[in-house]
Amino acid sequence: MDSDKFIITGGKRLEGSVEISGAKNSALSIMAATLLTKDVCILRNIPHLTDVDTMIAVIRKLGIKVEWKEDNTLYIDSDYFNNYEAPYELVKKMRASILVMGPLLARLNKAKISLPGGCAIGARPVDFHIKGFETLGAQVEVEKGYIKAEVNKLRGGDIYLDFPSLGATENIMMAASLAEGVTKIENAAKDPEVVELGNFLIKMGAKIEGLGTDLIKINGVKKLNGVDYNIIPDRIEAGTYMIAAAITSGDILIEKIDPLLIKPLIVKLEEAGVKIKQEKDFIEVIGPNSINAVDIKTLPYPGFPTDIQPQFMALSCVAKGTSVITETVFENRFAHTGDLIRMGADIKVEGRSAIIKGVKKLSAAPVMASDLRGGAALILAGLVADGTTELSRIYHLDRGYVNLEKKLTALGADIHRVEE
Ligand code: UD1
Repeated sequence: MDSDKFIITGGKRLEGSVEISGAKNSALSIMAATLLTKDVCILRNIPHLTDVDTMIAVIRKLGIKVEWKEDNTLYIDSDYFNNYEAPYELVKKMRASILVMGPLLARLNKAKISLPGGCAIGARPVDFHIKGFETLGAQVEVEKGYIKAEVNKLRGGDIYLDFPSLGATENIMMAASLAEGVTKIENAAKDPEVVELGNFLIKMGAKIEGLGTDLIKINGVKKLNGVDYNIIPDRIEAGTYMIAAAITSGDILIEKIDPLLIKPLIVKLEEAGVKIKQEKDFIEVIGPNSINAVDIKTLPYPGFPTDIQPQFMALSCVAKGTSVITETVFENRFAHTGDLIRMGADIKVEGRSAIIKGVKKLSAAPVMASDLRGGAALILAGLVADGTTELSRIYHLDRGYVNLEKKLTALGADIHRVEE
């Protein structure tokens, strides 16, 4: 329910192990990519999240058959469908709905997608997506809040992205896989989720080179096949539990995660005095008694991820000394600072930077999640605050964390959900 709350009593040291679920952002783009084939696709390790439910609703609305089979497995059958519209009611819930645009243009030569509109972390325009589709030959117009695109036949082209946008790289890569000829995406995003989408498309029969570099080359093919695919673990979920260990002076074994996916956080946590042991598929994080202040700057991958910035800020609030956090990916991703200040943090936001003077203790207060990762920051603050924190609007957290309170409780946290 939208009025559910988390009640968190701080002061518990978190210990034990936690299994990381499938990556939300990888699941969303790969679900969209299944539209590119008439065959059935089987997707495994899909996280049960409300964002995944929204993507299911979007593709069902198009007329596609989607079914949960075993626990985390989705069967998607896009053999026949003829609706090409993603309506406002769904896109406003999740802007990643725009990822069906490329596949729709490739399959039906038409797409009508609601403009996502503003959101808590910035204006987030979709101009790169639009420019990309125009380069591939589509006629695009924005009218009455909708992006309408049409094409006779997608043709390859050269695209330079002003910023290495994850969504635009993915959307263009999907459309280009079925276009005629060669597409080059320069200044492409290098994120693991982009690489995974590329690997998924290659398994379907696409011809793609340069994944994980800033020049991706796609040689269009006539047809793609259905595949059976396993989603990679969620690096942001893993990062959040790593910070939970650090902030509670705890000891958490984070299972089913490749440390390479979250290297920038590992480096910064070590700089802050956190002890980290890593193997091929797990990370153990041992929090010290006191955290050193460190500066971070968010950057496109492989830089420090913007999706971990709010959680890292929670840690900085209780560090020894002053930290500067600079956000370069989104222009307005500091909505969580107001509530951290309500809990006793000393933060000043100046433009794209936040200056955080560490305090000895945070104290519980009623607070509100304003977005997904900002909400995670408030949970982390609640885990170390004196007293009982009441966190509202937790539906934001259900978009991106599987069984959050269950996983935290198993680690020894005092957190429960109040359903209203
Ligand atoms: C994805 C992730 C999100 C993450 C973000 C940055 C998904 C579903 N979401 O979002 O969790 O925070 O990457 O790592 O994968 N931009 C434009 N025009 C565009 C597209 C983007 O100006 O057409 C700007 C954005 O406003 C932002 C920057 O580029 O400032 C990066 O955005 P982008 O990488 O596209 O983020 P998303 O794909 O929306």
